Amino acid sequence: FQTKRLYHEKVIDHYSNPRNVGSLDKALQDVGTGLVGAPACGDVMRLQIQVDEETGVIKDVKFKTFGCGSAIASSSYVTELVKGKTLEEALAIKNTAIAKELSLPPVKLHCSMLAEDAIKSAVKDYRSKRVVKKPTLGPEA
Ligand code: FES
Ligand code: FES
Repeated sequence: FQTKRLYHEKVIDHYSNPRNVGSLDKALQDVGTGLVGAPACGDVMRLQIQVDEETGVIKDVKFKTFGCGSAIASSSYVTELVKGKTLEEALAIKNTAIAKELSLPPVKLHCSMLAEDAIKSAVKDYRSKRVVKKPTLGPEA
């Protein structure tokens, strides 16, 4: 009796032992939160980064994914990838690289897309918080 091998072993590894699961306080100034959904299936992924303000390096990352095995594996893998990277480097991560590492089949490509989108969304949120609040100028300034 042989079951069809639906998932690559790396997916199973990340799925059964996901890295960096959890939450960061999204109210913190150095935390960026990305929340994305996959229109194809309705799965949802939340990914948060905490950034070293001086170096711009991602020092912590957490995720929570309500979705399929490939989506969980993709987010787990991507948290390993971005930790210790700069925001620019994190933005350069392509879903194709995730899909390749995890050997995702074509039908599961959108799961890795979710991880790429989640990173982009987290960086965007972090940056939107960085917008320097100019000191309010008096009426005569
Ligand atoms: Fe059901 Fe992704 S489609 S979990
Ligand atoms: Fe939709 Fe995996 S099936 S994220």
